[in-house]
Amino acid sequence: MTEKSTWEAFFDAHAPIYEDNVFTKNTLREVDFLLEELSLQPGGSILDVGCGTGRHAIELAKRGYAVTGIDLSSGMLVWAADAAKAAGVNVDWIHSDATQFSFPGKYDGAVCLCEGAFGLLGQGHDPIGQPLSILCNISRSLKPQAKAVLTVLNATAMLRKHTNKDVAEGRFDPLTLVESSECPPRQGLPAVAVRERAFVPTELTLLFRLAGMSVLSMWGGTAGHWGRRTLDLDEIEIMIVARKTAEPTAAGNAWQRT
Ligand SMILES: C[S@@+](CC[C@H](N)C(=O)[O-])C[C@H]1O[C@@H](n2cnc3c(N)ncnc32)[C@H](O)[C@@H]1O
Repeated sequence: MTEKSTWEAFFDAHAPIYEDNVFTKNTLREVDFLLEELSLQPGGSILDVGCGTGRHAIELAKRGYAVTGIDLSSGMLVWAADAAKAAGVNVDWIHSDATQFSFPGKYDGAVCLCEGAFGLLGQGHDPIGQPLSILCNISRSLKPQAKAVLTVLNATAMLRKHTNKDVAEGRFDPLTLVESSECPPRQGLPAVAVRERAFVPTELTLLFRLAGMSVLSMWGGTAGHWGRRTLDLDEIEIMIVARKTAEPTAAGNAWQRT
C-alpha cells in the first residue's frame, strides 16, 4: 500500500486510545458468543477482518485457535502485535486493505466486527462495490460450509437520526445510505472527513448471496451489546451470521472490478 487512505490515517492516530472506547469492554463474552455461532473444531483457523488492536483475535488465539488478523492500519496492528506478545500468543498479523486480501479456502471461520472495514468507505469508494469486495474476499477465504459473523451499521437507525436538512447539506445521502462527517481534532488526532455506509437487511441478504454466502441469522448487534434479539429500528448495528455455500458469483466478481 502506498499513500495512506483516510481511514488508515484515522485509525493509525486512534490506535493508542481505541480500547478506551466503552464498546470494547465486552470482549470475553463476545468471543464466547462468536465461538457458539461459528461451530469451529478445536484449533480451527479464523480470519479476523479489520482486526484493529486485536482484542478478538488475541482472545481467540488464547483459546487455541489459529488466527489471522488483517487491518488497513499499521498503527492498530502495532498495538495488536504488542498485546499478543504480552499475552504470549501468536497471531498472524497482515497489513492489507480487506478489499484486496483473500487466502482461498484457508479458514474454518471469519469475523468482521464493529465496522471492521465493511462499510468504512474511502473517499472514492463505490458504496456497493466496497462491501461486496470485502464479502467476496471473506467468502473466497473460507472453506466450504464455514461460517462468518459480521456486524454492520443499521440503515434504519441511521435514517431515523437524519433530517432533510442533513440531506440538503450533504451529511447524509439517502440514495447510497452513506453518512459523511468530519471528526474534529481531538486527543492528538487530526481532523478527518469520513464516509460510513449503513445497510438494510434485504440488501445484506442479496450482497451475501452474490458473495456465495447464505445468511443464517440477523440480530441486533450494536457494539458492546450483542445478543440474539430481534433487530429494532434504533439498533445501531446489525449482526449477521452466514455460511459459505458457494464461491462468489460472477455478478459479485464483476462488481468488484467496477
Ligand atoms: C472500529 S475498528 C474495529 C476493530 C475490531 N474489529 C474491533 O471489534 O474492535 C475498525 C477497524 O477496521 C480497520 N479497517 C478500516 N477499513 C479497512 C479496510 N478497508 N481493510 C482492512 N481494515 C480496515 C481499521 O483500521 C480499524 O482497525
